[in-house]
Amino acid sequence: DGVTVIDHPLVQHKLTFMRKKETSTAGFRRLLREISTLLCYEVTRNLEMTTERIETPIQGMDAPILEGKKLVFASILRAGNGLLEGMLDLVPAARVAHVGLYRDHETLQPVEYYFKAPEDLRDRLVIVVDPMLATANSAIAAVQMLKDRGAANLRFLCLLAAPEGVERFRAAHPDVPVYTASIDSHLNEKGYIVPGLGDAGDRMYG
Ligand code: PRP
Repeated sequence: DGVTVIDHPLVQHKLTFMRKKETSTAGFRRLLREISTLLCYEVTRNLEMTTERIETPIQGMDAPILEGKKLVFASILRAGNGLLEGMLDLVPAARVAHVGLYRDHETLQPVEYYFKAPEDLRDRLVIVVDPMLATANSAIAAVQMLKDRGAANLRFLCLLAAPEGVERFRAAHPDVPVYTASIDSHLNEKGYIVPGLGDAGDRMYG
């Protein structure tokens, strides 16, 4: 139904260490970078393929390569950059969009402060990344901004989601599949994911 929970044992193990409150900033960053490569592997699992004629030292063959234009990774600042780094380790040729949004702590509405994306989004797969899908206000707004610039083929990747956020995101953008390592219990009255891992941006950057 458009929602994939990435239950790979290494992902789940690393996520547990990210949740622990005693994990240091350095440890949190390292884990996020590691886990992001595993999430990237899963979110790109069914990309379309074509073949290219190559010569090995032994003989010619039609060898598989990715079809189409380079991917775009769209990072929702700040915390999205923690996922972005590991994803670029796996797909170094990807184009990158930066979407600056922060949540107003009272209203929980996203406030835009930066947007920069590659020109030609139209024919590319755009993978939007943010560790947290809480109310989904940020993700819904970021995807809309990318669609307004022509993006038509998108996926949303996060580390943790609240069930309320998944539902709201899917209602707002039913064409955009969601990938996450966990759907937690619920959102609290401050808009934090429970049990969650706290505020990802603060845990990475202070
Ligand atoms: C956090 C998180 C998401 C957003 C999720 O960002 O990184 O972007 O909140 O919440 P939502 O689904 O309710 O919109 P925050 O506003 O704390 O900014 P930061 O990443 O710069 O710390």
